[in-house]
Amino acid sequence: MTTIQRRPAEPLFFSAFLQNTVSHLQHGAWTLPEAEQTRMNELDLWVDLARTLEAGGFDMMFFADMTGLVHDFAGGIEKFVTAGLHIPCNDPMVIVSAMAAATQRLGLAFTSSILQLHPFEFARKISTLDHATRGRIGWNVVTGMSDNASRNFGLDELIAHDERYEWAEEYMEVVYKLWQASWDDEALLLDKSAGVVADAAHVHRIDHKGPRYSVQGPHLVSPSPQRVPFLFQAGASARGRDFAAKHAEVVFLLAPTPAVAARDAADVRRRAEACGRDPRDIKILQGLTFVVGETHEAAEAEAARLDATLDDAAYVAFAGGIMGVDLGFADLDQPISDLRQAGTESVVAWLQQAIPDGKPTVRDIARIHRSAGRIVGTPEEIADAVQVWADAGIDGINIINYTIPGSYQQVIESVMPELRRRGLARDLDDEPPVTFRARFTGSDRPDERHPAHAYLRSLGAAQEEQR
Ligand SMILES: Cc1cc2nc3c(=O)[nH]c(=O)nc-3n(C[C@H](O)[C@H](O)[C@H](O)COP(=O)(O)O)c2cc1C
Repeated sequence: MTTIQRRPAEPLFFSAFLQNTVSHLQHGAWTLPEAEQTRMNELDLWVDLARTLEAGGFDMMFFADMTGLVHDFAGGIEKFVTAGLHIPCNDPMVIVSAMAAATQRLGLAFTSSILQLHPFEFARKISTLDHATRGRIGWNVVTGMSDNASRNFGLDELIAHDERYEWAEEYMEVVYKLWQASWDDEALLLDKSAGVVADAAHVHRIDHKGPRYSVQGPHLVSPSPQRVPFLFQAGASARGRDFAAKHAEVVFLLAPTPAVAARDAADVRRRAEACGRDPRDIKILQGLTFVVGETHEAAEAEAARLDATLDDAAYVAFAGGIMGVDLGFADLDQPISDLRQAGTESVVAWLQQAIPDGKPTVRDIARIHRSAGRIVGTPEEIADAVQVWADAGIDGINIINYTIPGSYQQVIESVMPELRRRGLARDLDDEPPVTFRARFTGSDRPDERHPAHAYLRSLGAAQEEQR
């Protein structure tokens, strides 16, 4: 049993948890009159939101993403399409530079699966974005979780869980070589008088040959401010946690209670220590939803108004999808524990931890998803609850929305001032902008304990030895 100790007052990091889609996590809320996520195709929605978040003291935006439908429901795609469950869904990578151009400090993290882009192409796009944003790019590394996404990229089905992480290890090796080993810091000269763009002695091919990838290099982009994007991961399985412990700088949790967050944060930090990292090298962001009112009763009334729009069947369809199960034919009274199959353990365990008797049925899924991590109350009550999460050892909050931009405007106007008064949020920033990684860790590039560090200058040194 993990004991939770009071945490010294230290400000948390604040992130907006987003997806460029109509129905991200609170399914049905898009029908609210004030919901502007229906304008998801308009760049202005996202650029204005980025400005609002930065001015309101947020540290970052975090974009989830999918490269296929999560699953079928009742044998087909109809429920997913009708309810807008991550369809339509636009690519966040394509629009982040517009958000960067409108802001100075905001970190911009997005999800990209190892399936969707070849690592050479991905590394080049990331380095370009890191230059264009002056070092404000973050990458949420995901391994894919749906058959449909796999079939969109030429596979017959989702490959086995642990094999996906093996694949991810090679993907990381290739991108680290490109970002870290291909160009030494002194390579780029742009020396007009000598007529030399870059010193060839400091630009190296990577000559990677592995089971899945063969990449000659060199990287086509010169070293960007962070070299390696600030790295996020959200794996919940033991294998996923080991991957996060090795590579991630921020781990994203959706723990149902502070006690579970404390246990999971301690677990991933222990695993990081076993990889030779400092437990504090891993920052933990917890996903939470706030429903605010001037009085407690007003907040409850607001929660009831929001809940009236939510679509229970959509939550069941989606939750089944992330378990890899079509719940469209399920008996609503079937215990969720019956649904265990390879790869679903972490989702089943999550649902079991979320309710007191630990025995949820399919019928309970929507209720659990709607209420887990939801705090309903006055700004003072919300700040009290945030303190409990902070005491559990999290470093920041990834705020889930019902409406864009309304959910964030409300948090900025009513909750952030109270959190600032209590030292749980930073004062509004007037320091010069820094990179995403420096904002969270104090340094622009991965520290010497991170596996990416060992790649720096490694190719130049190897070539030197061969001479
Ligand atoms: C909080 C959270 C957020 C996630 N966001 C995404 C996402 O945006 N896109 C995606 O493809 N997978 C996402 N995933 C899936 C994970 O990255 C991972 O692939 C999945 O949980 C299976 O790995 P695991 O068994 O180690 O948990 C998310 C998982 C969690 C727990």
